[in-house]
Amino acid sequence: MADAEGNIEAKNYGIGIEPERGNFFLKGCSNLDWGVKYRLGRIFNPKSGNTVMLAFDHGYIMGPTSGLERVDLSIVPLLEFADCIMCTRGMLRSSIPAECGKPLALRFSAGSTILTELNDECLAAIEDAIKLDACALAPMVAIGGEFEAKTVKNLARCADFTAKYSIPTLGVTAVGKNLSRDSRYLGLATRVCAENGATFVKTYYCDEGFEKVVAACPVPIVIAGGKKLPEAEALELAYKAISSGARGVDMGRNIFQSECPKAMIQAVRGVVHEGMKPAEAMELYRDIAKN
Ligand code: 5RP
Repeated sequence: MADAEGNIEAKNYGIGIEPERGNFFLKGCSNLDWGVKYRLGRIFNPKSGNTVMLAFDHGYIMGPTSGLERVDLSIVPLLEFADCIMCTRGMLRSSIPAECGKPLALRFSAGSTILTELNDECLAAIEDAIKLDACALAPMVAIGGEFEAKTVKNLARCADFTAKYSIPTLGVTAVGKNLSRDSRYLGLATRVCAENGATFVKTYYCDEGFEKVVAACPVPIVIAGGKKLPEAEALELAYKAISSGARGVDMGRNIFQSECPKAMIQAVRGVVHEGMKPAEAMELYRDIAKN
């Protein structure tokens, strides 16, 4: 069971065979409680089946990240274009208008910063997530890292909260300095999150074999954008991820560090919700940016 070497390689992914959805529009979710489905239905658009989540939780490890120096000035004007916001409770309470009406994916674990290695991550209190009406709890999961066990335990604890309070768990796969972002690693990390009770999983796109990562994860996957890319490349990344089966993006830097964040988030929406090709979305970006 615990053999890491010498196993038969996984290969029967059934690529192209859509999983049975049952009575709900997202894969792997038909047996969940009404409250979990209700919250997922606020995060994901039931028409397209996809979501544009705006992530701006970076400060909890990186401090005043470029583009997030003043969240009130840079992020608040983008809220109307996001399907869901992902942030810490500190940033939410200090800078996000309570009347924004956007579902919240609450960054639910905390511990280290970029000044240290990942260490003793802990979870926030579930009562606070309930007070904030969180639509998802988002703990970091560091598969293959020194503190893997601690982070998987945190994920499992969140899944217990999901079962008890019907708040979905978003497993956030962290990629450490020494871990590659290939499909083998991402497939393992996302599957471990799902097996331990994540309702949906955030991970990274990889060019080789991403469709296998999606196929082997029985619950929806959304992708992070990663470091800032030129706008055309970020739109291409979103397009390829959606074409390979991702159900949306949980994107930060490629939106709020863009030359024109308002245009970028709308172009990303074009790809995620309207099936725009990258070139078409880039045209939309340019059109909005020049006005
Ligand atoms: C930071 C995160 C971010 O939310 C995530 O990486 C998405 O942001 P980006 O698109 O900038 O990668 O988890 O800890």
